[in-house]
Formats: sequence, C-alpha cells, structure tokens
Amino acid sequence: MAHPSGKNGKNKPTKRAAKKPVRKAGKKPISRSRTPPRTLPKQSDAAIAGTALGEVPEKRVLSKALKADADQLARRSLHKKVKTARGRKLSSTLWLERQLNDPYVMRAKAEGYRSRAAYKLLDIDEKYKILKKGARVVDLGAAPGGWCQVASKKVGAKGRVVGIDYLEMPAIENVQLLQMDFNDPAAPEALKKMIAGPVDIVLSDMAAPTTGHKQTDHMSIMALCESGLEFAEEVLVPGGVYVAKTFQGGAGNDLLARLKKLFTKVTHFKPKSSRADSAEMYVVAIGFRGESQSK
Ligand SMILES: C[S@@+](CC[C@H](N)C(=O)[O-])C[C@H]1O[C@@H](n2cnc3c(N)ncnc32)[C@H](O)[C@@H]1O
Repeated sequence: MAHPSGKNGKNKPTKRAAKKPVRKAGKKPISRSRTPPRTLPKQSDAAIAGTALGEVPEKRVLSKALKADADQLARRSLHKKVKTARGRKLSSTLWLERQLNDPYVMRAKAEGYRSRAAYKLLDIDEKYKILKKGARVVDLGAAPGGWCQVASKKVGAKGRVVGIDYLEMPAIENVQLLQMDFNDPAAPEALKKMIAGPVDIVLSDMAAPTTGHKQTDHMSIMALCESGLEFAEEVLVPGGVYVAKTFQGGAGNDLLARLKKLFTKVTHFKPKSSRADSAEMYVVAIGFRGESQSK
C-alpha cells in the first residue's frame, strides 16, 4: 500500500512538480515571470499622491528606478484625464482635459474670477501699471467678465467700469454691462452714454471665434482692434491708454503706424498667463496724445 504522504517514493512530488503553480478552475493563471513587476512600497504611494507635481517624497530612500516610478505616479495622480464620450469630438475632449489641468483655470476658480483671462489683465497691469484708483475704464468684449472684475477691483469705488459683449453676463459689482454687438453702429454712443464722461483706459479682449484659417482669423482680430482704436480716439483723455488683443506678429504695419502717431509709447506684450501655444498677444498703447495732436 502506498504511504499517504508518498514516503515510499511513489507519490513523492519531484522538485519541479513542487514549484509548478496550481491553477484552480476559473482563476487566472499565476504569473511565472522570474522578475516581479516593480512596485513602490505601500506607504510611498499614499505620500506621492499628496505631493506637488514632480516632487518625490522620501527622496533619500528611493532608488533611482523607484524615483522615476514615483514621478510617473505623482504626475498620473494629478493630471486629470478625460474619457471620450459619445457625441463629443476629440478636439472638445482635449480642450476639456486642458481646462481641467490648467493652473490658471484652477486659480481663477479658487480666487473667484470668472475666467482665466483675468490673469492676463493682471499681468499687463503688473508690467505697465495702467489701472489706477479712480480711473474710468471701458472693456470691449467683456464676457464672461474676468477683466471687468480685475478693473473694478483696481479702480475702486471712485472709478468706473463699463463692459460690452454680445453675450449675456451676470451682473458684476461696480460694473455696468451692455449686451450689444460692438460693431452695431449704435454701440459707441450707447457706451458713451453709460460712461458719461472722459475715459482713461479702453481695453479690448474682443475675439471672434477662430476659424482655423490663419489669415482670416488675423484679419478678423485686426478689424476688431481697429474699431476699438477708433472708439478709443473718440473717448480717451490725453495720457489715456488703449490695450487690445492681437495675434501673432502683433498689430499690422498700418495699425502700428497709426498707434504710434496717436500714443507716445506702443509695445507688444505676451502675458505669462497667455498660453504659450496661443498666437495671441496684446498691443499696449500708453500716453494718448489727445485730439489736437492726433489729427
Ligand atoms: C476672450 S473673450 C473675453 C474674455 C474677457 N476679457 C474676460 O476676462 O472674461 C472675447 C469676447 O469678445 C466678445 N466679442 C467678440 N466680438 C465682439 C463684438 N463684435 N461685440 C461684442 N463682443 C464681442 C466675445 O463674445 C467674447 O466674449
């Protein structure tokens, strides 16, 4: 009779058989890979998830290989991925993903600004110090209202801010809003009535939806920049400021020549908050020479 433990040698498992992984019915086969996948110690995973991008906790104890894994893990845990959804175009998915991972979008949310664009005006003002207390400002292409919020805060209760956009905007404290197309021939008069007096600064962040055709988009933004300048010429006080969005290459030669004639200082500026892959930049014209000199 065979010994139950296989002591007689018949049922004794061989060295090879002993190592063979047992596969139970319905279960996945057990990996036989000799090199187990690299994993981080459990406690490190938690620490990494709570660190800033690129920061690796417990640097001293992590080997070089582990550090690379930690970086990847940290990046993955902070970078929000957006799943494609039925009916959503790839371009919309990518836009959504960029928005969710844009530090200025997050900052705007946290600081109560309606748009990330608010930081562009803050950057412009940091550089040129144009928004002084008590100043009177007209904001062309104001929706959703980030620039109006910044301008209103900077000029204070004694200043005045009027914004126009053909899109509807919820009210902003200390700001008067006009829902109208700026190209409507009645728009300049309506704005003048609302501001009821001289203007220190005309801002234009106006931009029509882009077509993707470079020349068309450039011409459309130049046209808006020019009509903004025409309005600025009519309302600005001597010493006044005009800021307008332009595209790559800045204001065209003709427009630049006109700006230089009308203002003492004209520069192009790309705010650090403006996306590096965007062609937008701003023309900043300071020191309006006044009607008599400009004509
Ligand atoms: C980049 S957004 C402005 C963002 C704004 N500066 C902010 O901080 O929220 C450009 C705006 O220009 C407006 N716009 C473009 N053409 C316009 C026009 N002809 N009249 C009025 N608004 C216009 C668009 O509706 C859009 O809201």
